[in-house]
Amino acid sequence: MKRVTIQTASKTYDVKIGVEMTNEIVSFIKKTFPQVSKLWIIADKEVFNLHGTAFSEILSESFDVTTYLAPKGEHAKSFAIYEGAITHGLSNHVDRRALVIAFGGGAIGDLAGFVASTYMRGIPFIGVPTTILAHDSAVGGKVAINHPLGKNMVGQFYQPEGVFFDLDYFTTLPGTEVLSGFSEVIKHAFLSDRSFLQELMHSFHSPEKMDKQFLTDCLMKGIRVKGDIVSKDERESNIRAFLNFGHTYGHAVESASGYGSRTHGESVMIGMIFALYLSEQYCELSFNLLEFIKWVTTLGYNLNIPSHITFETLYEGMRHDKKSQYGHPVFVLLKDIGEPLMVKVSVDDLRRADEFIRQL
Ligand SMILES: NC(=O)c1ccc[n+]([C@@H]2O[C@H](COP(=O)([O-])OP(=O)(O)OC[C@H]3O[C@@H](n4cnc5c(N)ncnc54)[C@H](O)[C@@H]3O)[C@@H](O)[C@H]2O)c1
Repeated sequence: MKRVTIQTASKTYDVKIGVEMTNEIVSFIKKTFPQVSKLWIIADKEVFNLHGTAFSEILSESFDVTTYLAPKGEHAKSFAIYEGAITHGLSNHVDRRALVIAFGGGAIGDLAGFVASTYMRGIPFIGVPTTILAHDSAVGGKVAINHPLGKNMVGQFYQPEGVFFDLDYFTTLPGTEVLSGFSEVIKHAFLSDRSFLQELMHSFHSPEKMDKQFLTDCLMKGIRVKGDIVSKDERESNIRAFLNFGHTYGHAVESASGYGSRTHGESVMIGMIFALYLSEQYCELSFNLLEFIKWVTTLGYNLNIPSHITFETLYEGMRHDKKSQYGHPVFVLLKDIGEPLMVKVSVDDLRRADEFIRQL
């Protein structure tokens, strides 16, 4: 089992990565929460069907367990599902000594963390992430649900008590979700150093073939990059915003496509290429963008933006981004790999970058 310790101003906790982790989780809860009244699993229904029965049976041998099943993916992050979860907790006598367990991908982590942060003014939670992408979302304590007018618009900073990755769960991940998760690994490489990026481009050739050692190494490195940034700026007052690299245009594409119809990571990949193009224009980034695009296209990322999604629609989305200043989109660009900075970009340059993406 591998471990990365995350230190933030409000909490220090471990992220553990291994196989057959349920017994490790049982020991952790017994040691850290000896008085726990109930375990409240909040799970992605599809993931629970695949892996949840064995998980909850083992927990039930030691604890009182109740389970709330949410719809898969982004559908979980709605006001209606949030209310449904709270109703489940109250109806099942979940009290302030209970512990929430987020069991699923990033969407469930965001929902369950937000439920935990608000239920009876806050009860503790742990993450049991089941996607590669969640090496990003399960670390750092951002929890949220969506509003029809914007993604993650209702949320909190609320750190988990611990995070437990069980590599066995990744065996059922579809290729599209592997690619989605790797997009955030690649983002962490862009934010840290060229050698990490080169290693990925050298070793990652197919979402179908991946050995556990390679995957563990990628998760550890990505988590360290994120943990390092979050430890210096837990509440996104300054450098944490760099983690939004690729997200300004990416979120606009994801939202215009309709949440759930394109993976989060694939949208971020498109957003990163957009930001890399702008980085060449604004920051003289020296990088072989065409070689990178060839690599990700061969891996299977779909970079196509349908023509009914106009630049004007995406521009409106970019203006709603949380980093915008007085209605002007602000982008995380790169001076070099590992050297991000914030740049206000003109609408004409955004339009040119959008045209570049559309001709790929
Ligand atoms: N809080 C943060 O800091 C942060 C950071 C990045 C992303 N996010 C959020 O994370 C979400 C995306 O997370 P995600 O990509 O993990 O997606 P997800 O949670 O939407 O899951 C994607 C799909 O994979 C399925 N799935 C999950 N685990 C599986 C498994 N082991 N086997 C088979 N299928 C499985 C799910 O049912 C779903 O259909 C977005 O809502 C995004 O906003 C949050």
